[in-house]
Amino acid sequence: MRILIPCLLFSCILAAGAAILPAVAEVEDSDCAMCHEEVVAAYQKTGHALATVKDGGAGCQSCHGPGDAHIEEGGDPDKIIRPQSLSPEASSDGCLTCHGRRENHFSARQGIHRLGEIGCIDCHNPHSAADAMLRAEGAALCSECHQAVTARFTMPRSHPMADNGPGCVSCHNPHDGRRSHPSRIATEVCGRCHFEKTGPFLYGHDTTLVDGCSTCHEVHGSTGRHLLVEETQVNLCYSCHGAGVTPGWHSARRFLGEKCTACHTAIHGSNTSQYFLEE
Ligand code: HEC
Ligand code: HEC
Ligand code: HEC
Ligand code: HEC
Ligand code: HEC
Ligand code: HEC
Ligand code: HEC
Ligand code: HEC
Ligand code: HEC
Ligand code: HEC
Repeated sequence: MRILIPCLLFSCILAAGAAILPAVAEVEDSDCAMCHEEVVAAYQKTGHALATVKDGGAGCQSCHGPGDAHIEEGGDPDKIIRPQSLSPEASSDGCLTCHGRRENHFSARQGIHRLGEIGCIDCHNPHSAADAMLRAEGAALCSECHQAVTARFTMPRSHPMADNGPGCVSCHNPHDGRRSHPSRIATEVCGRCHFEKTGPFLYGHDTTLVDGCSTCHEVHGSTGRHLLVEETQVNLCYSCHGAGVTPGWHSARRFLGEKCTACHTAIHGSNTSQYFLEE
């Protein structure tokens, strides 16, 4: 019976692909060390093991499921949960049994990474002693899957990444994909460092009239000055303000090579001029 019950549990878990269940207290985590001495020793340095003391943390069996059958069968790898062989949803739901409750920003169940079938353990290695148990540091982690984006940071002009500049995660929350929406990024994220650009203004141009900063800026990197999406500023402005919308004396020819912002200096918004003419 002692062997049968966990076996039945496993078949349920694996068949349904459901969340990892809490441990049955038949085996102590310390028993794992008998055969996995190195793994257990390395684990003591991880954030989870350190948290165990003060905070409950996560033990071996919180992620690998009850170990009785595994041990009784002399370490049969089919009798223990291997999170890396579950679906990303199933293994992440295991993490979220604790983190879904603990962290209010983990709306990861709706997140873009979840929808893209990326699970927690694609970015985190629970056996690593690295910061936040990340598989790689900084942009290197993201580069593994987003080469096209990281390549933009080597363009002639790019958003600074080092020193006081933002890394990927100062603009993107990897746990909440909804933040990738430009308007939200503008008000919530860009404003943290460029608050003079986000207003609120009596006459706003940026987030009020157009859909956020990235309508005009390619924030990762571009060939245009000030990270503008068009190399020539006039082309950018005329992409929305065609003939007939600007006053008659604003002809494309007249302003060729000139900057509209020579006069419209308060291009992001103004409290005094509806035409963004003064700062
Ligand atoms: C009696 C020895 C023994 C004990 C005790 C033991 N294991 Fe194992 N375990 C093994 C052997 C043997 C393997 C298969 C060979 C390997 O991959 O190291 C294995 C494999 C595993 C695997 C799969 C490794 C992979 O390749 O992904 C996991 C996970 C695992 N054990 C976790 C545990 C946990 C958690 C405990 C404690 C609850 C535990 N083991 C206790 C012997 C043991
Ligand atoms: C049994 C509960 C539990 C489970 C299951 C669990 N965690 Fe944790 N985790 C904790 C606790 C407790 C902490 C420490 C306090 C905190 O940061 O909330 C923590 C901390 C962390 C940290 C921060 C560690 C650091 O060094 O700052 C990461 C990252 C993490 N967990 C990822 C995961 C991942 C990925 C999974 C699934 C593979 C997982 N956790 C499963 C309870 C759990
Ligand atoms: C927070 C969840 C979590 C906890 C806690 C955890 N593991 Fe793991 N374990 C994993 C994941 C995920 C992998 C796969 C790692 C990978 O893909 O590189 C893994 C891999 C393993 C492996 C096979 C890979 C290797 O390094 O040999 C063994 C054995 C293992 N764990 C045993 C243990 C033992 C023993 C404990 C307790 C000391 C433990 N695990 C605690 C999630 C966890
Ligand atoms: C796309 C990569 C990625 C995925 C997927 C991911 N994380 Fe993270 N996680 C990170 C990064 C990067 C950090 C460090 C954030 C920072 O430095 O601001 C982090 C930090 C954390 C932390 C510690 C800091 C904090 O915010 O409390 C926890 C806990 C955590 N992640 C849990 C999870 C869980 C649980 C999942 C799955 C539901 C998950 N992560 C999925 C990249 C990821
Ligand atoms: C293991 C691969 C992987 C890693 C690592 C990864 N991502 Fe992703 N990411 C994806 C996938 C898959 C999607 C789903 C959409 C897609 O296909 O581009 C996605 C989507 C996104 C999106 C939304 C894209 C959109 O079109 O709105 C952003 C933003 C993002 N990731 C940022 C990051 C950041 C920042 C990191 C590093 C902390 C990171 N990713 C690490 C695979 C990954
Ligand atoms: C200065 C803030 C900022 C930084 C830093 C940043 N991003 Fe973005 N990212 C954005 C904005 C804004 C968008 C939306 C662009 C749009 O809608 O045209 C975006 C879009 C994305 C997308 C989806 C669209 C696309 O271009 O594929 C991915 C993936 C992404 N970023 C990944 C990353 C990665 C990886 C890094 C780090 C190497 C990074 N971002 C750094 C602000 C930033
Ligand atoms: C309608 C197009 C447009 C939108 C929307 C826009 N910008 Fe700009 N931005 C510009 C132009 C044009 C310049 C160059 C101004 C110049 O030539 O002096 C610029 C310059 C900048 C500069 C560098 C110059 C300086 O004054 O420091 C920053 C930083 C900046 N924008 C941030 C933002 C942020 C943050 C947002 C979103 C809140 C935003 N922009 C939205 C058009 C736009
Ligand atoms: C963590 C702080 C931080 C965040 C968040 C941030 N930036 Fe920046 N940004 C900088 C720094 C630092 C520079 C380089 C110094 C400078 O030129 O002002 C810069 C430069 C720029 C420039 C180029 C300025 C020029 O004159 O060439 C633009 C445009 C810009 N940021 C727009 C944005 C937008 C849009 C967002 C939101 C998607 C954003 N930034 C988010 C810190 C940040
Ligand atoms: C993505 C589209 C878009 C781009 C690009 C754009 N604008 Fe606008 N702009 C608007 C919209 C929409 C309004 C509101 C128009 C209205 O109410 O008639 C506006 C309003 C204005 C106004 C105030 C006009 C009024 O009638 O109140 C001026 C001046 C202006 N833009 C100048 C510029 C300049 C200069 C550039 C280039 C740096 C530029 N715009 C780029 C969409 C854009
Ligand atoms: C020499 C200064 C100057 C330059 C350069 C300039 N403008 Fe203007 N713009 C003005 C003034 C002044 C107004 C106020 C209305 C008027 O005088 O007719 C104005 C008004 C506007 C309006 C509002 C029209 C309306 O009636 O609602 C738009 C849109 C506009 N400009 C776009 C542009 C664009 C796009 C460029 C670059 C191609 C540009 N401006 C370059 C001075 C300038």
